[in-house]
Amino acid sequence: MTEKLTAVKQSFETELAAAQSLDELENIRVSYLGKKGSITELLKGMKDLSVEEKKDFGGKVNVLKNEATEQIALKMKELKEKEIEREIGSMPEFDLSVPANLSRGSYHPITLVQRECERIFKSMGFNVEDYSEVVTDYECFEALNIPKHHPARDMQDTYYLENGQLLKSHTSAAQNAIYKKYKSALVNEGKPIKAIFPGRCFRNEATDACHENTFFQMEGVMVDKDISISNLIFFMKTMLSEVFKRDVKVRLRPGFFPFVEPGFELDISCAICGGEGCPSCKHSGWLELCPCGMIHPEVLKSGGIDPEEYTGFAFGLGLTRLAMMKYGVKDIRDLNSGSLKSLSQFTDDE
Ligand code: DAH
Repeated sequence: MTEKLTAVKQSFETELAAAQSLDELENIRVSYLGKKGSITELLKGMKDLSVEEKKDFGGKVNVLKNEATEQIALKMKELKEKEIEREIGSMPEFDLSVPANLSRGSYHPITLVQRECERIFKSMGFNVEDYSEVVTDYECFEALNIPKHHPARDMQDTYYLENGQLLKSHTSAAQNAIYKKYKSALVNEGKPIKAIFPGRCFRNEATDACHENTFFQMEGVMVDKDISISNLIFFMKTMLSEVFKRDVKVRLRPGFFPFVEPGFELDISCAICGGEGCPSCKHSGWLELCPCGMIHPEVLKSGGIDPEEYTGFAFGLGLTRLAMMKYGVKDIRDLNSGSLKSLSQFTDDE
């Protein structure tokens, strides 16, 4: 029996040393430790031995069984590691300098329109200002001649924070800060205030194809001595002709906004019918584009500017609306949808 045990031990060790794969290892495990395996058979063969021999031989077989189990586990670990190394070795070498094969991202249509407007206004000497999305009631309303309980607030219901601040409902909310920032250059150095401030605006609105609770506007102001409505018309016409890449006609209709006096709705001639009248312009030949007006004396005063000495114009261009018109987007919600498929089609413009 002991020779048999030595023989089993030897052949186990030889086979184990030769095993090259996990499959081979599993076969070895079954052929030695499985139900009919050689080591298991040795244990079964003990039934004919005397009690003494059983004790002695049984002990040895158990030692062999434990050693074999342990060695198989070790070998398994070793083979697994080798397998991983083999896998890594068979992978193509990773070259950090190779550009990733990802399709190019694209600019959002509103970003494209915003940049276009910024470029045009910068070329006409305007500064581009950035302003916070969270503002005070004073900035958004009071400083714009919209006192508490004024009905004009109904149109601009927005989201209020617990500290009384709010998400700005229009870019006009930055006007007051802009006047204060530039007034000394205006008064002391005679530099006109010429600034635009694009930004995200919020309103507590139910959404549909034409309304969103989040949208973009671009406010513009110019303040100096003797600024008149003619200046306003000139800048708007120049800017819009550049944006639409054609000579647009503009017209002003009266409009009411508490922070301008007089206030207007600025329309542009319809590009689709050339002014003849079509369904897109509701057969009027004109499209409503941008509210504007001459800055109200009270608003200038709140900004620290003497309305007896200075006048100015302001406009609030709906960037979201402009993007929709320029790119023919029919549903405003598409612009906030994050749908890369619909947004990526505008990439070519840049
Ligand atoms: N802030 C106004 C709104 O969102 C738009 C507006 C009207 C801005 C007239 C102006 C302006 O600067 O002069 O409804």
